[in-house]
Amino acid sequence: MVTLHVVGREDAGAFAADRILSRAAVGTLSALGVATGSSAEPVYAALAPHPDAGRLLAGTTAYALDEYVGLGPDHPDSYRATLTRQYVAPLGLDPARLRTPDGAAADPDAEAARYEAELRARGGVDLQLLGIGANGHIGFNEPGADLAGGAHVVTLAERTRRDNARFFARPDLVPHRALTQGIGTILRATEIVLLAFGEAKADALARALEGPRTAAVPASVLPGHPAVTVLADAAAASRLTRVGAA
Ligand code: GLP
Repeated sequence: MVTLHVVGREDAGAFAADRILSRAAVGTLSALGVATGSSAEPVYAALAPHPDAGRLLAGTTAYALDEYVGLGPDHPDSYRATLTRQYVAPLGLDPARLRTPDGAAADPDAEAARYEAELRARGGVDLQLLGIGANGHIGFNEPGADLAGGAHVVTLAERTRRDNARFFARPDLVPHRALTQGIGTILRATEIVLLAFGEAKADALARALEGPRTAAVPASVLPGHPAVTVLADAAAASRLTRVGAA
């Protein structure tokens, strides 16, 4: 079931941060699924200055959705380094509380299997933050993905490499492969909060929330999950017709 809130970026960040901290405060957030990319940034920006966030999240383990193959934890463009800068360091958290697949692993397939086993042993995260790719991807599950799969290695769609080139010094430095939680992994989260901002996400969001469940739009699995909150700005929500705004 999807609940939609049409809100600006900053309010969306505050809303998600509040949800995270409220759950941490009542002891129902032992595992938090963290996303990288610009959509999740307002959430970390809202958590960072919060006076209680570091204390409340000190006992929560964060699990990354994905990581680039070839970028080790010390590479500044790795998702581990990004989440360390945006989430772990500002809150003064123990770096061991951030779990990520190792992009520099010698055998990426084995590393994906290891990460899936780790998440499975955990039983799924309590709250998963998600962005959505302009092509409907979640994590790095590109169109055509197995809608029930576990963590695995993917070849990135050219559209995704182009979209993410802004985070790299040069477009050709964007890796071609990534490790990602599978859609099955993501759907084990008890609660999902999806953030989407800007016109570039409007089509993907409409197809995800109002179109048929299809591997062509990996995010189209979300309406089948029991507890999804979508925080979208007016531009990203502009092509939604059936899902009423709350
Ligand atoms: C990226 C990431 C996703 C992210 C999505 C949206 O490629 N792998 O985890 O949620 O695509 O990115 P952004 O929020 O920067 O638009």
